[in-house]
Formats: sequence, C-alpha cells, structure tokens
Amino acid sequence: MKNVLITGASSGIGKALSYEFAKGNYNLALTARRIEELAKIRHDIKQKYPSINIEVSSLDVTDYSAVPIVINNFINCLNEVDIVIVNAGIGLGEKIGRGEFDKAKRTIETNLIGAIATIDAASAYFLEKGKGHIVGISSVAAFRGMPRSSAYCASKAGLAIYLEALRAEFYGKDIDVTVLFPGYIDTPLNNMLPNRPFLISVEKGASIIRRLIEKKIKSSTVPAFPWNIIGQLIKVLPTPIVSKISG
Ligand SMILES: NC(=O)c1ccc[n+]([C@@H]2O[C@H](COP(=O)([O-])OP(=O)(O)OC[C@H]3O[C@@H](n4cnc5c(N)ncnc54)[C@H](OP(=O)(O)O)[C@@H]3O)[C@@H](O)[C@H]2O)c1
Repeated sequence: MKNVLITGASSGIGKALSYEFAKGNYNLALTARRIEELAKIRHDIKQKYPSINIEVSSLDVTDYSAVPIVINNFINCLNEVDIVIVNAGIGLGEKIGRGEFDKAKRTIETNLIGAIATIDAASAYFLEKGKGHIVGISSVAAFRGMPRSSAYCASKAGLAIYLEALRAEFYGKDIDVTVLFPGYIDTPLNNMLPNRPFLISVEKGASIIRRLIEKKIKSSTVPAFPWNIIGQLIKVLPTPIVSKISG
C-alpha cells in the first residue's frame, strides 16, 4: 500500500485526486488551509474506503517554515510517504501597472515559492530515504504569457523550470519527478470564466493525472490531446493574437 501526500486537497483537483487515489488503495496525507473541508473529505472517504489511512492537516504553503514541519508530521503518522503532489495554487488574474501588484505577489508566493517550499521539504525526506516521487501541477498557462494572467503564467512556468532543474540535480537517484500541464479542468479556480475550451470534468482530470503519476511520466499535458498540440502552437502565436486572448 503506497502513501500519497497532496497539497491543496480541500477543493477541485486536489480533492478529486484524494478520492481517485483512495479508490486505488493509497493512504492519504491531505493539506490545505481549510481544515474543516479536509475533515469532511476524510470522513466521506473513510465511509467509502474504510481500510484507507487518512491524515489531514491545515497548512498555508506561504507559511514557509511550517511546510517542512507539516510534511514531517505526516511522515511520522504514516511511517513513510511515497509520492508528494505539489498542487496548492490560486488563480487571481491581475492587470499590470494598475495597482494590482498585491495579487501578483500573492500568486507568486503561493504557486511558486509555496511550491518550492513543499518540493524542498519533500526532497530532503526523499534524499534521506533514497527514493520517492515528486509531482508538480503546473498548467498550460506555463507555455505562454497571457494578458491579465501574467503572474499566474510566470508562476506556472517557474514551477515547471524548477522541476526540470530538480530532475537534472537528482539524475541517477531513485527519485522521480513529474511535471503536469493541465488544460481547463472544471473547478472553482476557473468556473467563473466565460470561455473554457476543451473543458473536462474534475473526476476525469484526476483519473488522467493518477494514471500519468503511476506511469511515472516525466511531463505531460492533461489531457495529453489536444493540449500537447495547442501547447506548441500557443508558443508561436503572434502577439497581436495573444493580446486578444483573455486569461
Ligand atoms: N482547474 C484547472 O483548469 C487548472 C488548470 C491548470 C492548472 N491548475 C492548477 O491545479 C491546482 C489546483 O487548482 P484547482 O483548479 O483545483 O483550484 P481550486 O479548486 O481553487 O483548489 C485550489 C486548492 O489550493 C489550495 N490553496 C490555495 N492557496 C493555498 C495556500 N496558500 N496554502 C495551501 N493551500 C492553498 C486550496 O485550499 P484552501 O483554500 O483550503 O487553502 C484548494 O484546495 C492549482 O495549482 C492550479 O493552478 C488548475
């Protein structure tokens, strides 16, 4: 029985992944800021899958010094952790130069620095243990800077590059690194947007993500098609066209 730790498990993709991994007979370590949501998820999963061990803990990933403490507590409770899914994130959207710097700062602090804090703590443990698997949830937004999503795109590109560096740094070790680039998955992060091309349900997204993780894929869009093609096209779209896309 494997143990998986998921950040941002109180909603959307992280919550759906919790059910998906429980279905696959994994023990769970779930974190997010909203502990009451995590408690509900724990209760519900326990009803469906009584043999699963589920630990929950409140964690704000921007409380950087708390991140290794919470991760180490989970390791003590579950004895070991095999996979860490770095999923917690926000998507605020902001205009540059219009007094919205705070939104940009919060986005980078959560999606990039919070993710790096999580990866650093997970890496310390996996290095000591001699094996492990780190999974980062980036986004197709990492492929091109979009207007009104500048900090979000930068945070997701930063996370992808950081994980690429991690893979090279850990080359030759038994530590796998997976970076995933989801397209639109139906969650509270984006359900207010008027256009969500190629939208998939969160259950389908979680099922694809679990399959990719179990295959230890290095990197993939989610779903692979059509975002693998769109991801390449979007990199070469002329700026006048990109300027009309609302992020
Ligand atoms: N949905 C999509 O189409 C899509 C596409 C590409 C990438 N993604 C990425 O997938 C990840 C999950 O997003 P989602 O769509 O599932 O959104 P969501 O439903 O809003 O869930 C976001 C999760 O992150 C947690 N979170 C936010 N800020 C946090 C913080 N400071 N500390 C700890 N946890 C925090 C939230 O929990 P609390 O509020 O309880 O803390 C929540 O559980 C994000 O990284 C997002 O960028 C999503």
